[in-house]
Amino acid sequence: MLLMGIETSCDETAVAIVADDRRILSNRILSQLYEHRPYGGVVPEIAARSHLQHLPGIIRSGLENAGVKFSDLDGVAATAGPGLIGGVMIGLMAAKSIALVHELPFIAINHMEAHALTPRLTNNIAFPYLALLVSGGHSLFVAVAGPNQHTIYGTTIDDAIGEAFDKTAAFLGLPYPGGPSIENIASEGDPLIYQLPRPMRGRPNCDFSFSGLKTAVRRLTEKPDTDLDAPATVANIAASFQLAAADVVSDRTINAIRRFKADYPDGNTLVAAGGVASNLTLRDSLQETAAKAGLQFVAPPPALCTDNGAMVAWAGIEHLNVGLQDTFAFAPRPRWPLDELVVKGQG
Ligand code: KG4
Ligand code: ZN
Repeated sequence: MLLMGIETSCDETAVAIVADDRRILSNRILSQLYEHRPYGGVVPEIAARSHLQHLPGIIRSGLENAGVKFSDLDGVAATAGPGLIGGVMIGLMAAKSIALVHELPFIAINHMEAHALTPRLTNNIAFPYLALLVSGGHSLFVAVAGPNQHTIYGTTIDDAIGEAFDKTAAFLGLPYPGGPSIENIASEGDPLIYQLPRPMRGRPNCDFSFSGLKTAVRRLTEKPDTDLDAPATVANIAASFQLAAADVVSDRTINAIRRFKADYPDGNTLVAAGGVASNLTLRDSLQETAAKAGLQFVAPPPALCTDNGAMVAWAGIEHLNVGLQDTFAFAPRPRWPLDELVVKGQG
């Protein structure tokens, strides 16, 4: 079975062709990084126009790179939310059009489910597993029992972790997106120089909070004796922030694992996915936390942690494999909680 996956919910125009035996035949990603960088964040209107302009060419090159034609496909999947509505509409409409013209099944995919299912594409892990999804818009724990079968254990009560990385980078004068910039410079810094808060640490639930950490970094950068022109200062603050974020995530993960083990005594895997899961300090810390709890830790390679079409195609394959597909009436959803029950048609 061959599926095309289309991802346009944020600032990547991405198309992939994936086979059900886990081969990624093509994985085209056009980043709009340079279009948004002058604004320090994603501008929805610019994103939508750019998707509209580039998606047809990316679809064509996705097919060419894979060496396949539309007639070789067995279905088309697209991110239908959550995300920036203009972009989601464009990807969804493109997928529906291809499915309509070529009489193929169409599958509407939740972007966060696509991140959550990626470790099954890359590492062939079994259900159920505990997933930590950390990206620019989300920070959550979810027990993944099957396609379309998710229980959320905890989420952020304010900012997403990726947002905290992006804002911290901006305070430090580092380029957007902040995550890779922070990770880069932090490798030259000492994480123990600055004592930053660890919000929610020790609380009994699995929720996150990042706004206090973000504010603490802002206050630190505004202090008259903090010299942001000194590269060592920037590196030390970046490293201290990164360690604080990783500490918080590991602390919350201990609680999430406890709940997961109670719900699924046979579950033995912790997964991290989403853009922030490409951070190596975070991965190391999660690896250690999982090992202490007797779980294996799996995270996709960084290129499949950030937004891509392969994860959408794979989620489409997972849905089709259990007989789930969607009608052309499926509307784009700017908000779409992962545990919201969506009635799907049978293939
Ligand atoms: O999953 P993603 O590509 O897009 C969303 O769905 O949001 O995640 C993007 C987020 C951004 O906030 C970016 O700064 C962060 O992931 N990110 C990282 C790293 N690479 C990307 N954060 C920390 N360390 C990284 N290496
Ligand atoms: Zn994402």
